Amino acid sequence: MVAEFSSGSMTVCNGVSIESIVREEGTPVYVYDAAAVRDRYRELDIAFGDYPHRIHYALKANSTVGIARLIRSLGGRVDANSGGEIAVATKAGFAPDDIVFTGVGKSPAELELAVRSGVFAINAESRGELERIDKIARDLRVKARVAVRINPGVESGTHPQISTGQLSHKFGIPVHQALEICRWVVLQEGLNLVGLHVHIGSQLVDLEPVKNASEVVAALARDLTSVGVDLEYIDVGGGLGISYDGTAAPSATAYGETVVGAIQETRLPIIIEPGRWIIGPTGVLVSAVVDVKSQGNGRYFVVVDAGMSELIRPALYGSFHRIELLKPNDTPLVTCDVVGPICETSDVFGAKRMMPLPNVGDLVAICDTGAYGSAMASNYNRHPLPAEILIDNSTWSVIRRRQTIDEMLAQES
Ligand code: LLP
Repeated sequence: MVAEFSSGSMTVCNGVSIESIVREEGTPVYVYDAAAVRDRYRELDIAFGDYPHRIHYALKANSTVGIARLIRSLGGRVDANSGGEIAVATKAGFAPDDIVFTGVGKSPAELELAVRSGVFAINAESRGELERIDKIARDLRVKARVAVRINPGVESGTHPQISTGQLSHKFGIPVHQALEICRWVVLQEGLNLVGLHVHIGSQLVDLEPVKNASEVVAALARDLTSVGVDLEYIDVGGGLGISYDGTAAPSATAYGETVVGAIQETRLPIIIEPGRWIIGPTGVLVSAVVDVKSQGNGRYFVVVDAGMSELIRPALYGSFHRIELLKPNDTPLVTCDVVGPICETSDVFGAKRMMPLPNVGDLVAICDTGAYGSAMASNYNRHPLPAEILIDNSTWSVIRRRQTIDEMLAQES
């Protein structure tokens, strides 16, 4: 078993000392473990067994080119959510046939790029978008491969801000309109209806809604077959959750069984678009303590040099991330609020954490930040984007160097 950051020591990962990385690259810095990415990818792949399936890693979780390349080396494909993510995929060596293109508001330029390059499928979000794709394809004298994204009207039970499968959410085509729209799609000269797509949310830790949503699309696929419309596959999206706080989360095996169980009657191959489950637990954000101050009531603020600009999840969703001192000292545990340097009260990584009082200069690891950490980072308060490091084969390499202040200002006159 590989010592993933989530379960192993924070000081050393696969023979590499985190401190040695920090000595050369500074803080804050994102560090990923390639061996853990491989293990998790394989575990998810094995969970679908012999049932025909394709894994399209959701680039939005972490689209650093070095991570995309690693996924490609494992036989993975991608789900891209913008022209920028298609560019990442191309740079990482993926062929158009490896790409499904999702997104609730694709621009005319993005649609043209997707049709021209001939992606595996465009996951279409509305009748209007399908009409636009058809027009582009006819003008280019090609047939665009499309999957119709269904909004199944299923409550996912996850955080409301990352829930996408209810009819009041902006995503997809309401299930009750879908049959009629699919029957229209097959009559269009520029469109080739290849699949159905559904994605009800992210960080799903209850498999019941996953089952329900998969059954909704499976039923629609059967209805389509009965009116003579054949599909190539069903894409059940991403969303499988991970345990951030040690409470139980579903296994890959249970997820695979749930999805296959709901779809297998259609005999259609399955596409999944996992992001977080593969990459989340394989990364940490390493940050240095820059100030420690007493709140006067036995509680302390531990101010670190990363903030919501490097990891926005706690501020945006109230998300929990474990925070560990790289070298715990043996002083008694005290109550700490671990906060960032950004001028917002929401810039808190962890409230009321029990830890030995750190010293200025000590390093902390903010755990399970491989997904939606660097991908959602910003220059807020003019923080340059941190470096990203990949540990592999007992050594490490910089997969994105730290942005310089000059680079940050280069576009401005
Ligand atoms: N497919 C589609 C169509 C999606 O919208 C998403 C995520 C995924 C796949 C991948 O979902 P995953 O397997 O990573 O759960 N920023 C939020 C998460 C937003 C997810 C957006 N869509 C967070 O930090 O929790």
